[in-house]
Amino acid sequence: MSHALVQPSVADRIYAETSADAEGVEALVLAAFGPGRFAKTAERLREGSTPSAGFVARQDGRVIGSVRLWPIMVGDTRALFLGPIAVDKAARSEGLGAELVQACVEQAHRLGVGGVLLVGDRPYFERFGFQPAPEAVLPGPADPRRVLWLSAGVETICGAVRIG
Ligand SMILES: CC(C)(COP(=O)(O)OP(=O)(O)OC[C@H]1O[C@@H](n2cnc3c(N)ncnc32)[C@H](O)[C@@H]1OP(=O)(O)O)[C@@H](O)C(=O)NCCC(=O)NCCS
Repeated sequence: MSHALVQPSVADRIYAETSADAEGVEALVLAAFGPGRFAKTAERLREGSTPSAGFVARQDGRVIGSVRLWPIMVGDTRALFLGPIAVDKAARSEGLGAELVQACVEQAHRLGVGGVLLVGDRPYFERFGFQPAPEAVLPGPADPRRVLWLSAGVETICGAVRIG
């Protein structure tokens, strides 16, 4: 993972992920999603790929929040795929999730990609401006209402989503 460009400006609680965070991130994601996440369509955009960036929140040296961004193409549009995002149960509803998403949005602008794609709950992500992108075709089954796009310059997307 490259860290040269990923220090976010959103808040002093959010840091660029380092290799020392890997175990903590894995444990956090496992606790939040369970082992089933590897069967998900989203995982097909991550396996064999390398994150563009990762952001974490830490408390007493422990990872309590994590998000990763992955390089993808949506049709002809270069973009970032967001996920997984997770915050430790004991630290939820304190705005960490929002700060992690904000770090991702800033990273998309910094890298000059068209936007950020994710598969997730619209009731959570629409507050950041994510909108359904039913024309984006994921490499596996996905509820189109959960395929969400936030523009960083490209308003509408269509076509196959692949590792980019
Ligand atoms: C989603 C998640 C990362 C949010 O982290 P967080 O630090 O609590 O986020 P914030 O503090 O910015 O926002 C919390 C608010 O979002 C709401 N919220 C959380 N998940 C939500 C969801 N899936 N749908 C709708 N609202 C949601 C909370 O109820 C809370 O509302 P409140 O402010 O009225 O209490 C965290 O709940 C989590 O790790 N969930 C399990 C993993 C997961 O489902 N991740 C992907 C979501 S699709």
